[in-house]
Order: sequence, then C-alpha cells, then structure tokens
Amino acid sequence: ARTFFVGGNFKLNGSKDSIKTIIERLNEAKLAENTEVVLCPPAVYLDYANSVNKKAPQVKIGAQNTYTKAAGAYTGETSVAFLKDIGIEWTILGHSERRTVVAREDDELIAEKTKFAIDEGVKVILCIGELLEERKSGITLDVCKKQLLPTIAKLSKEDWDSVVIAYEPVWAIGTGLAATPEDAQETHKQIRDFLKEKLGEEISQKVRILYGGSANGANAASFKDKADVDGFLVGGASLKPEFVDIINSRQ
Ligand code: 13P
Repeated sequence: ARTFFVGGNFKLNGSKDSIKTIIERLNEAKLAENTEVVLCPPAVYLDYANSVNKKAPQVKIGAQNTYTKAAGAYTGETSVAFLKDIGIEWTILGHSERRTVVAREDDELIAEKTKFAIDEGVKVILCIGELLEERKSGITLDVCKKQLLPTIAKLSKEDWDSVVIAYEPVWAIGTGLAATPEDAQETHKQIRDFLKEKLGEEISQKVRILYGGSANGANAASFKDKADVDGFLVGGASLKPEFVDIINSRQ
C-alpha cells in the first residue's frame, strides 16, 4: 500500500513566530503512524523550520521551488544544492501559482527542474491541474497529460521513487470549493491509468497522487475511501490547527 502523504504549502505566508507555532504544534501532536508529512515554508525560513522540527523523519521540511542549476548567475533562485546543504530533502515544483501568477513556468521548465532536483538527491512534489475553463470544456485529463509528458520523457524509471504527484485543480485552490471526493478519485484514477500506459504497472501503482485545493480539517476524511487519493497538498489549512486533523484523517 502507498504511504499516506500530507504536504503543507505555506506559500508566501508566515513569520518566524507563526512558523514556530505551527511546527511546535506538530511536535506535540499525536500523528497517525504510517503517514508522511512535508511542510514547505518560504525559502527564507527553511533552515529555521528544520531546526524547530523535532518529528523527523515522519515530518520533513521542503522548499516551494528550486532551479535547474546548482549555482551561478541566477538572481533570486533557490538551488537544490542549498537545500542539501541545510538538510532539506523535498521541494514542490510546478505549482499552478508559479505556472500562471508569479512566473510563467511551462511544462518543459518544470520537467527540467524536476529532473535536476532528483539527480541532485532532492525529492519532488510535482503539481499539475486544470483551470476552470479547461474543466468546463471537459479537457481536464488532456491538460494533466500535457503537463506530465515532458517530465515522463526526462525521468528514468528509478527517478519515480522520488516523485509525488499533486493534482490541484486551479479552480479549487484557495476558493473553499474543494473537488468532491468522487471527482478527485475519477481524475486520480485517470492520471494513474496514464502513468500505467506510459511507465508500466509497477510505477503507476507506486507513485502517490495527492489532492490539493481547499482541503481542510472538515473535508479530509471524506476522501478516506478513495483508492487513488494518497494524501493532500494543503495550502491555507496547513497554517492552522486543523492541519493535524488532515494528517490524522486516515485513521
Ligand atoms: P488551498 O489549500 O489554500 O486551497 O491551497 C492548495 C494549494 O495550492 C496547495 O499547494
């Protein structure tokens, strides 16, 4: 069985104080066994967050973005080499906010970043998902396939041990309108079938597919019996006490 995985994406939020509060809450909470948690604070706070976390290896700290190069003249970027230097093992890549709002990241660039991170020993939460117009036009799966294809082309079979996919429909992010468990399951299953077609049964069964978009303490448990929903990537609610309920929602 795939280990339940909950990621917390703090986005551009937090302060030293609030990050301490969030992580100490997890330090003190009783977390369901066989659950993996990765908290992704802003890059500036990664080292600090790592020093406050007492729940490793169950809870780990991750970045929200990394670059395709380890060092050089790339102002403002975060290197996977820096992450390794401070003991960070995970990064989010391809978040829809980076694809559409803060940067115009495309599928090729995201694939390149993903390959580079994995080659350097950093694991990746790879985000995909359709816009509202795309869902309305019935092309959700085509969009997800298109987003995945360049990464599928670049990664070796072993590389997939270092990837978790986060399916985050853009219309559900930060809107309070989460996908229904049935809709999420349907898309997750289609994504898994696509992985099977491209990479074979073994990898398709191994790769975890998280749901993201207005997941919270109240709705997380309703995804419990959905076979292809292997966890959550949580934005807003990861900053709140209810994050513990999401982590424990599979009990
Ligand atoms: P919300 O949980 O705030 O909708 O954000 C989801 C998300 O984008 C996680 O990466």
